[in-house]
Amino acid sequence: MKNSGLFRFIPAKLPGVFRSLWNCHIYAYANIRQGVTAMLEEFGPNIWIANGSTVTAAAGFRYPTRMAVIRLANGDLVLWSPAELSDELHAAVRALGAVRYLAPPNSLHHTFLGDWQQAYPEARVYAPPGLREKRKDIRFDGDFSDGPIEAWAEQIDFSIMWGNRITTEVIFFHRESRTAIFTDLIQQFPPGWFKGWRSLIARLDLMVAAEPSVPRKFRAAFTDRRAARASIQHVLAWPTEKVLMAHGEPVSRDGRAFIHRSFRWLINK
Ligand SMILES: [Fe+2]
Repeated sequence: MKNSGLFRFIPAKLPGVFRSLWNCHIYAYANIRQGVTAMLEEFGPNIWIANGSTVTAAAGFRYPTRMAVIRLANGDLVLWSPAELSDELHAAVRALGAVRYLAPPNSLHHTFLGDWQQAYPEARVYAPPGLREKRKDIRFDGDFSDGPIEAWAEQIDFSIMWGNRITTEVIFFHRESRTAIFTDLIQQFPPGWFKGWRSLIARLDLMVAAEPSVPRKFRAAFTDRRAARASIQHVLAWPTEKVLMAHGEPVSRDGRAFIHRSFRWLINK
């Protein structure tokens, strides 16, 4: 694993316990897969979600996964954080339209990207910051950092959360359903998801807080807070009603107020 280059992304200043937890998180996307991918569930007009397989990390930390499918006005599909490509999921996606865009949202959620690109070689793949360097086997057709994507702009906006040493996440906004889509920056695991000492670490990291929260390891890893504040102000300008995240139950209303609470520690300093 040390040869993979991933370790250079580990923030040097993180306290030991969070550093261990961070190691666990990156392992999650390279190791064991469990369970069967569920069918797509309608989340709003022209947006669907699927709960993917559970991945198990080093030291036994387990993570649920989630992907989203957005249908553009012309019927083309955008796949956010593509999950494990099962026959069932493949059929469900195909029934919605043509897969034209693959959108990995950060440099961590890319394990299944190659399978989807193989299935849909004509789909355009956009790179979040840091992913091109990690996945040289993937053909990328553009970068989120280059600015708006013309083909989506009327339906989907995005903000890049700069200034974090763990990963640079692209936060999306689906205008029609007023849904903001986070990946790892906001998380909430169900009560009892982790057991024993893992439960303690998850509590310390705010992974199992009363409402979805920014884990402490991510807070500590924001080294350019001015850049991060500008990014979150872009997010707060959206009229967000609902919030999706990769690891946690969606927020169904008052999304903008929820996001403001989640990032109060950043905004108010
Ligand atoms: Fe994740």
